[in-house]
Amino acid sequence: MSPPPPQASPAAGAAAGAVQRPAREAETPDGERVQKVLARAGLGSRRACELLVEDGRVTVNGAPAHLGQRVVVERDQLSVDGVPIGVRPGLVHYLLNKPPGVLTTAADPFGRPKVLDLVPDEPRVFPVGRLDAATEGLLLLTNDGELAQRCAHPSGGLEKVYLAEVVGHPRPGALRALREGVELDDGLTAPAKVSQPAPGLLRITLHEGRNRQVRRMCAAVGHPVRRLVRVRYGPLTGPGLAPGAWRALSIAEVRALEAAASGRRTDRRP
Ligand code: URA
Repeated sequence: MSPPPPQASPAAGAAAGAVQRPAREAETPDGERVQKVLARAGLGSRRACELLVEDGRVTVNGAPAHLGQRVVVERDQLSVDGVPIGVRPGLVHYLLNKPPGVLTTAADPFGRPKVLDLVPDEPRVFPVGRLDAATEGLLLLTNDGELAQRCAHPSGGLEKVYLAEVVGHPRPGALRALREGVELDDGLTAPAKVSQPAPGLLRITLHEGRNRQVRRMCAAVGHPVRRLVRVRYGPLTGPGLAPGAWRALSIAEVRALEAAASGRRTDRRP
């Protein structure tokens, strides 16, 4: 099973907070001037923002910005001192490819590695929902409480897609049970999309987010999970995001996530 394939190195992601794109792409004549976008995002007066650019503290898609450069906010990622500028002032949204063995909790008495160790300290963010320590893949971290609540709320119906490498080769009856609902100790699971792209590899799409749900569902049909990777979170995918690396969501991705979490689905892919 392949985890989300690498895209940005942890170092590059941490330093620039953005996926590198050709500088040429940011120079579109139809955008807005970078200092104007920064001023609107609350980084200071237009003049103060010009100074930020002149001092080399601003990057567009990872490359140093220049005064007057035009950017398209829905597409280009602006950062100041390596911190991505979010969809609203002060808000940041990171997509992390969580490696196995890293905890989603904020603190651990045994000092084990935590997802918060993998993203910038400031501004403070928190994980939206959780992945088990052994589970890998896409995890959203943000300081956007409103969006986090919407994403985590079952009424939002956000789709989460997992690849599960399981023991044995599930037969059609087991797949049907996973699709229709499995009786767990906290009740029957909701209908799920389940396919077997390769023997012993299941692709499972859930709208629910119960504790260790995929592992418990697979175990309940006699096929315990050997390896579990979340490959999609609502509309968000992480092609090229190496284990341990993160990237800032673009404004378009934040909007798509808001829409998906409100039940206005933009995440219909199987
Ligand atoms: N299901 C699980 O079993 N574990 C996770 O981390 C997420 C979903």
